[in-house]
Amino acid sequence: MNEAPDERPDRHRVFFALWPDDATRAAISRATRAAVGSSGGRPVAKERLHLTIAFLGELTAAGLEVARSVPPIPSRGPFDLTLDTIGIWPESKTLWLAPAAMPSELGELHARLWDALVERGFRADDRVYRPHVTLARRARPVESAVEPVSFAVRDLALVESFPDGRNVHYEVLERWPL
Ligand code: 2AM
Repeated sequence: MNEAPDERPDRHRVFFALWPDDATRAAISRATRAAVGSSGGRPVAKERLHLTIAFLGELTAAGLEVARSVPPIPSRGPFDLTLDTIGIWPESKTLWLAPAAMPSELGELHARLWDALVERGFRADDRVYRPHVTLARRARPVESAVEPVSFAVRDLALVESFPDGRNVHYEVLERWPL
């Protein structure tokens, strides 16, 4: 019998992400409220705002344990990320907030995490990495300047995504200091 993906037992949809603290998520929400409103899109709720580093897809419980065993990732320590650019990907109608320039620490963290994941048998995402915080879906393009938001990145999080009606619910499973 076929089952819908999110009804299959023993499946965990997980990703590594930078998970902002409450104050940073509030600042992102405030800085982007007008743009999200004028985009007409479906906003991502404040508590779900995050920046994905590595999306792993659906894992078995055993696969999840392997993913958990991958960090800590060698890093140059905490760093600050300036989120200062709003844009849209027309093909997916995703409205996002991103850094205009990618700090080298973020590029390194992404590369080293994937190196470690590949070593443990995960398949690398071969698309160009475009770090972003998704703000809204089914959005229209907006002309928008944004008050830059400073995100003090202190740790790497492993997050599980659960279906929740028309939405998703995210749970941070574990965090590793950078
Ligand atoms: P998005 O917000 O741009 O859709 C949980 O779904 C997180 O993983 C989101 O940050 C989402 O990015 C990202 N994500 C979902 N599917 C993905 C995929 N196939 N490749 C990369 N990232 C993905």
